[in-house]
Order: sequence, then structure tokens, then C-alpha cells
Amino acid sequence: MSVTQPANSQNPYFSTLETLDARRSVPARQLGLPGPDDATVLRLLQSASRVPDHGKRVPFRFLRIAGDARLALGEALAAITLHRDPLAGDGAIEKDRQRFNHAPLVIAVIAVLDPGDTKIPEQERLLTAGCACFALLQAAQALGFGANWLTGWPAYDPDVRVLLELGEHERVVGFIHIGTPAMAVPERERPDPRTLLTDWSPA
Ligand SMILES: Cc1cc2nc3c(=O)[nH]c(=O)nc-3n(C[C@H](O)[C@H](O)[C@H](O)COP(=O)(O)O)c2cc1C
Repeated sequence: MSVTQPANSQNPYFSTLETLDARRSVPARQLGLPGPDDATVLRLLQSASRVPDHGKRVPFRFLRIAGDARLALGEALAAITLHRDPLAGDGAIEKDRQRFNHAPLVIAVIAVLDPGDTKIPEQERLLTAGCACFALLQAAQALGFGANWLTGWPAYDPDVRVLLELGEHERVVGFIHIGTPAMAVPERERPDPRTLLTDWSPA
């Protein structure tokens, strides 16, 4: 799907738009070494933090899951699954064990939702945290990495909250898996903006 190029496509920022259009997820299983080094992680998070933020609340933080911590978290997930369902199949257990062990780096984006904040609606603060996830995807791709925004049951599980040491008013918004793509991901069909756009007019 492509729409007509705008008249100002000679604008120097137009190539930025094409870069944005090139974003696509790389499945976590296809993300390998090398991952970003420490300085690069901070650079990515600088971009990821530059999000619209009503009231400048900074309602998010980043939790790094890297190195041995990835498998350790997976082992804990597998133990939770087995504890809840002793008959769980080997495949399900192994899936949980390996859940965070594909990409070299996973950044959990945590929404920090102060319940005492009565001025900025919680939805808006949650959206800001979601924007940070998206900005991190874009930043990773801009530096030649691939990335994948995943949630799955661990993002919403009370026992995992304890494992990740989340505060009472914190929520996982996404686990952003980042690494070097092992494959070129084919394009998938994208929505046609013409089918999404309507004009409001007074009744
Ligand atoms: C909040 C959120 C959570 C997601 N969680 C998962 C997930 O757990 N598993 C999954 O396969 N895809 C998940 N996705 C979808 C992928 O991140 C990705 O967007 C999708 O595979 C389409 O690829 P694209 O980003 O190239 O459009 C999630 C997306 C969002 C926005």
C-alpha cells in the first residue's frame, strides 16, 4: 500500500519519514549477538525518553534484563508455570524458560502511575509509557538493531511483579527485546490510511 507522495517530499526531513516507515518488528527468536553495549543502551534510552508527556511527569522507567538474568528470569517463570499446573507440558515449560533468553537485551518499560496524581489522567501517563516503548523500537532500528515489543502473561502476572520488584503502582507496559537481526523480516500488510480516515462535520 502506498499513498501519493506529498508535494514537500523534497524537504530534508522526508528521508526521516521513510526511515520511520521502514520500521518493523524482528521476532525475538531472530535477535542475536551483538546487542547494544552499555553506552549504546543509554543512547537508545535517551531517544526512548523523548516522548510526549503531559505535565512532564516522566511516568516510566526502564528495567534491564541482560546476561545471566535472562535465563534466571526464565527459570523463575517456568517454576511458576509448573507450580500452577503440575501437568504442564515440556514445551510450555521450555517456552517460559527461554522467554527472555533469545535477544541479548530486554528492556522492560515500566509505567510508574502515581495514584495521587489527580491532574493528569492515568490513561495519559500510561500512553506516555507506551510511547517510550515505541520510541525505543524506533531508536534500536535506527542504530541497526532489531527489536520486538512483547508482553505475554509475564507482563500481567502478580508473581512476576514480585520477581521484578515492581512498586504497587507500577505496571509492565512492554518487554522490548533488542539484538542483531538474524534474518530480513518480510514486510507485512499495513493498514491503508484511506480506510481509517473520516471527516467530522457538524450534524
Ligand atoms: C502492547 C503490545 C504487546 C505485544 N505483545 C506481543 C506478544 O506478547 N506476542 C507477540 O507475538 N506480539 C506482541 N505484540 C506485537 C508485536 O510487537 C508486533 O507489533 C507485531 O508482531 C507486528 O509486527 P510489526 O511491529 O512489524 O507491525 C505486541 C504489541 C504491542 C503494541
